Amino acid sequence: LGTLGLVALAGYLLGSIPFGVIITRAAGAGDVRAIGSGNIGATNVLRTGRKDLALATLVLDAGKGAVALLIARWLFGSEAAGAIAGASAFIGHLFPVWLGFKGGKGVATFFGLLIAALWPLGLMAGAIWILTAFLFRISSLSALTAAAAAPLLALLPLTMLGLPASTPIILLALFTALLIYVRHAANIARLLKGTEPRIGAKAA
Ligand code: G3P
Repeated sequence: LGTLGLVALAGYLLGSIPFGVIITRAAGAGDVRAIGSGNIGATNVLRTGRKDLALATLVLDAGKGAVALLIARWLFGSEAAGAIAGASAFIGHLFPVWLGFKGGKGVATFFGLLIAALWPLGLMAGAIWILTAFLFRISSLSALTAAAAAPLLALLPLTMLGLPASTPIILLALFTALLIYVRHAANIARLLKGTEPRIGAKAA
């Protein structure tokens, strides 16, 4: 295992911590995988009716991506190392060994990564999520819109603002956005059928 392999492994292990499952269980709110969409993310934790637990899940799932990227970038003084650790944390969240590789959809971790990689990019993508959520009140639709926008924002407007994203950051945004689409296949099907629930609707 070379240095990069170790960076990837450490990033994966950090990203694989399933905060949504841990937090809901610790709070006695049951197993989040048994309610709503069955996802382990903040949106589904909110379906337990516990806003505090959903917020904690959002912050910690975002934080683990940010921390992985920031530590690797600082240790190696390289954007590429940061992006590799960040992408590995993202993979860890999606495919955690602790949950039989059945993890989340990556949206919170994606935002944590973008903010750590290049904060104006994270801010712009976050604003798009919030605007879409304000208009439609559907978490998955907001995530899909922000994910589609992020790689484009990394390429165009930031460059125009004199804040060009480095190649590793552009690749990280593309890679994570593509995987977000793959992980939202069931959501996309529900969106097309018009059956995707609104944010905060409690699980039946
Ligand atoms: O962050 C995941 C969100 O986009 C969708 O979550 O539980 O509605 O499938 P969920």
